[in-house]
Amino acid sequence: MILCIQNMSNLVIKYKGGWFLMCKLAKKCIIAIDGGSGVGKTTVSKALSKKLGIIYIDTGAMYRATGLYFLNNKIEINDKNIENNLEKINVDLKINSDGENEVYLNGENVTDKIRTEEVSMAASNVSKNSKVREHLVQKQRALAGTQSVVIEGRDAATVIFPNADIKLFFTSNIDIRSSRRYNDLKKRDSSVKLENVKNDLIKRDKQDSTRTDSPLKKAKGSILIDTSNCTVEETTNSILDILRERIGLI
Ligand code: DC
Repeated sequence: MILCIQNMSNLVIKYKGGWFLMCKLAKKCIIAIDGGSGVGKTTVSKALSKKLGIIYIDTGAMYRATGLYFLNNKIEINDKNIENNLEKINVDLKINSDGENEVYLNGENVTDKIRTEEVSMAASNVSKNSKVREHLVQKQRALAGTQSVVIEGRDAATVIFPNADIKLFFTSNIDIRSSRRYNDLKKRDSSVKLENVKNDLIKRDKQDSTRTDSPLKKAKGSILIDTSNCTVEETTNSILDILRERIGLI
């Protein structure tokens, strides 16, 4: 169990054992990270949130859970079917006792089930629909509430929090991204092929950046970070440097 207490700006977390994880930011801060598939947003967001003692929100997990609903029920993803089913889809994102995101679809914990290539594509397909986006963006803002947060996705700095204190846009070489994603997927499915993973990434990025509603793009004022040749720790440390300079760390 985790107990989250919000004060004016920061998150204080009380664990079962009774210790507190205090926010290390000098003031309330929204850190919005956008970028294409496999650029390392989620891994870095997690690491950063742990270092800062604040929560992170993986918005992609919510689109994935929505996509999974259509796969589970064998319903073709199109606007008409989405509108007919939207009321039956309840997606919740919860922060567990390790500070990790857990995603629920109609009450079922689907955190592991959403990490397949099939679900990735279904997520990209449902994310084109404006009603889905409207619904999830509302939830994402409510989840962040008034506390400091790291939020990552495709529209974190353009739509969800256009006034975020720190806006970052991650980019990375396609071959490096493909092999990172391939290594992740391989842990769950030994039949996965690197070439297919690469093609899926290219296809999904194209779809996500050319859609009409909230396309993936670098927000005005976003800092470009190339993660190609950086470890998670190096990228996290360069963001901490930015925060130290612009927000202040305690
Ligand atoms: O970040 P991810 O790979 O888990 O996201 C899966 C899909 O969800 C992605 O291809 C596009 C969509 N998505 C989106 O449209 N907006 C977001 N903020 C996050 C994800």
